[in-house]
Amino acid sequence: MLNYSILQRLRIGVGKLPGTRSLYNFLRLLIAPTYREDGLATVHNCDFLKDKRFLKAYHTALHLHPGMDIRWRVHVTQWAGWHASRLDGDFVECGVNRAFLSSSVMNFIDFDEIADRKFYLFDTYCGLVENQISPADKAAYRNYYEDTYQLVSSSFNNNSNIIVIRGVVPDSLATVYIEKVAYLSIDMNCALPELAALEFFWPKIVIGGVIILDDYGFSGHEEQKRVADCFSEKQGVKVLSLPTGQGLLIKS
Ligand SMILES: C[S@@+](CC[C@H](N)C(=O)[O-])C[C@H]1O[C@@H](n2cnc3c(N)ncnc32)[C@H](O)[C@@H]1O
Repeated sequence: MLNYSILQRLRIGVGKLPGTRSLYNFLRLLIAPTYREDGLATVHNCDFLKDKRFLKAYHTALHLHPGMDIRWRVHVTQWAGWHASRLDGDFVECGVNRAFLSSSVMNFIDFDEIADRKFYLFDTYCGLVENQISPADKAAYRNYYEDTYQLVSSSFNNNSNIIVIRGVVPDSLATVYIEKVAYLSIDMNCALPELAALEFFWPKIVIGGVIILDDYGFSGHEEQKRVADCFSEKQGVKVLSLPTGQGLLIKS
């Protein structure tokens, strides 16, 4: 039976014999992970899980999408939102569904109190677009999307700075005028509109502005990663692959 005393003994041997560090960490992951959720298990510090602001924002977002268990991904997007709130520029999400990620960012940074920023929420609000899906988009059919337009628009109708745009990306992108973007979240599970959104918004992203590619490292989403990598290379930047599966891009 694996337990802490075996772990302690193994710890003493770490570094002395080849492979002991990996074995020790593997056993720690089995016995005492600090996080095991959403395809990610670790023994690293995750104090953010106890942070009051994080908890409040996460639980408020759960009202829109009950049962979501993607806390580290949310932590990353909240950080990105916080970072963007210190820059000049608006917030954009392409691929909103029930607004779980976007509302957790809004709650985390008290977006209601930031009068000079807008948060644009682009989605068909009824799922992916058949003729945009290529055979390489292996994960594109994985989820069924119900119509969430009423849910999302009624959730934000008391804040005129949150703009819900129903339509197909990329056609819908030019229907509103957005001058500068500090935060862009891309999560459409499909390479074609994701690349189009990157191309459309890149010139508008301010220096230091942040892009989160939600599906970047997930299996079945390799086509989205491929187009994001090609795009970044052309722009002379690099996507940071995060252990959460997300990709992070900062305009420098
Ligand atoms: C994975 S969900 C987004 C999840 C969301 N970010 C959240 O916080 O839960 C993908 C969304 O992308 C939208 N979508 C896919 N292709 C689209 C397109 N071409 N234009 C607009 N929305 C699209 C779908 O309707 C769906 O709501």
